[in-house]
Parts: sequence; structure tokens; C-alpha cells
Amino acid sequence: MAGPVISARELSLVFQTADAPVYALSKVNLEVEDGDFVSFIGPSGCGKTTLLRVIADLEQATSGTITVNGMTPQEARLKRAYGYVFQAPALYPWRTVERNVGLPLEIMGFDNAPERIARNLERVNLKGFEKKYPWQLSGGMQQRVSIARALAFDPKLLLMDEPFGALDEIVRDKLNQQLLELWDRTKKTVVFVTHSIPEAVFLSSKIVVMSPRPGRIIDVIETNLPRNRTLDIRETPEFLKLAHRVREGLKAGHSYED
Ligand SMILES: Nc1ncnc2c1ncn2[C@@H]1O[C@H](COP(=O)(O)OP(=O)(O)O)[C@@H](O)[C@H]1O
Ligand SMILES: [Mg+2]
Repeated sequence: MAGPVISARELSLVFQTADAPVYALSKVNLEVEDGDFVSFIGPSGCGKTTLLRVIADLEQATSGTITVNGMTPQEARLKRAYGYVFQAPALYPWRTVERNVGLPLEIMGFDNAPERIARNLERVNLKGFEKKYPWQLSGGMQQRVSIARALAFDPKLLLMDEPFGALDEIVRDKLNQQLLELWDRTKKTVVFVTHSIPEAVFLSSKIVVMSPRPGRIIDVIETNLPRNRTLDIRETPEFLKLAHRVREGLKAGHSYED
């Protein structure tokens, strides 16, 4: 596909509340290319979720423009151009793993659902767990089920809002490694929200550093790490240099507070 997967120009979003307006996003400019792994990182309240929700057409910008696959977010949503993974797995407890993954296909009446379900469960290394119920799985496995579900329509773009935020560090390391392999294998474009510096640096081809009040982008870092990296890369000087730059950006974003 020609052109960027996501292109935002001077994008702003103001929430009108009972007390004062909240400037959730202020003049955001962002370009996400096909095959990128982009992380949004920043402290709580800097607009990460809001930006992801604008891309997904779950929230509308107050001003500025944005395209997703060259379309408006609404057109992209209707064409199922993206899959969305929430912070909590949000699985139906009375449905088996395969019936959770197949739910979007069921709703849309897809006839090759069994094939798609099998392919996507294999992609997240859950082959053999088809008949289990969510409560029989660990938190990490549940989140992999929701990733498989987000891949049900095979969208080119995967939007993930702190998908591993509630998991312990060892599980998170493992899932980060698996997600990276999935990205490398499937050539998806991923937009990933986190507030972990190591997670952002490990996963990303591009890191978008954000700051609150108003929510805005303060740095965009191209990482240029090899696509098929392993966790060991976190010990290398290149990795530490990138982590340092993210940390400096986050610090600068806070300099005029308290
Ligand atoms: N629906 C809403 N109404 C009013 N304010 C909101 C709403 N959603 C988010 N906000 C505010 O917008 C800002 C950005 O929120 P959010 O995008 O959730 O940040 P993050 O995901 O980076 O923690 C915060 O100040 C938050 O309180
Ligand atoms: Mg959030």
C-alpha cells in the first residue's frame, strides 16, 4: 500500500468537562509507516489512550486531520482495517477460547471461521487450548487470546493499549518476545501503548515520547534495532542509549511541574 498507515496533522482533542476543559491532545503530528512498530510512551494522563482511540474512531478529534490507511478513521473502522487489544483481556467467561477468538467472525457471518481461529491461535502459541475457558488460563494466556481475537479479520494494523500492563515482569518479557516474533512473521503494523521504557525500546521501530497537560508529542525516536532481536539486546550500548534518550524526554516533559 502506498502512503503512511497513519498520518496525523495538528491533531487536537479537548474534552469538555463540568469544571474545566481537558486538553487531552495538542497539535499532534505523527506518521506511522507500513510495517512499523510504534510505541506511545509517557506518564498517566498524557493522552496515549486518547490518541489510540482517535485512530480507532472511538473518539473524535476537536481539530486537525487524521487518516488511517488513507481513509478517515470511521471508514477504516467500517472496513475492519485494524484490530484493538485492550488493557484487560475482556473475554467472555462462558465462551471457550476458540469461541472468544471467533466472536467477531460469528457476528460478521464469516464462513471460514474455523480456519481463521486455528491460524490465529497458532500465531499466539495457543494451539491445543481451543476448548479451555478463560478462567482456566493464566493472565498472559488470556491476553494472547485477545490478541488472537484482534487478528481475526487479519487486519494490517494492530492497536494495543498497555496489553501487558497488569502482568508480572517475567511473563511480560516472554510476551514481548512473542509479540516481536509475531510482528516479524506477519509484517503487521503495530501501535502499542506503554509506560515502560524497556518495553518501548525493546519492541519499537519508532518511539513516540509524550507529555501531559496538554497531551503532546515531545520526541520521536527511530530505534534502528534489528527486527529479529532477542531480550539480550537490552544489555547493549545501543539499547541503553535509546533508553536514556526516552528517559531524558520524559524528564524534560515534566520540568515545569511541581
Ligand atoms: N472521556 C473523557 N472525558 C474527560 N476527560 C477525559 C476523558 N478521557 C480521558 N480524559 C482525560 O484526558 C487526559 C488524557 O487521558 P488518556 O488518554 O486516558 O491518558 P493516558 O492513556 O496517557 O493515561 C487525562 O487528563 C484524562 O483524565
Ligand atoms: Mg491509557
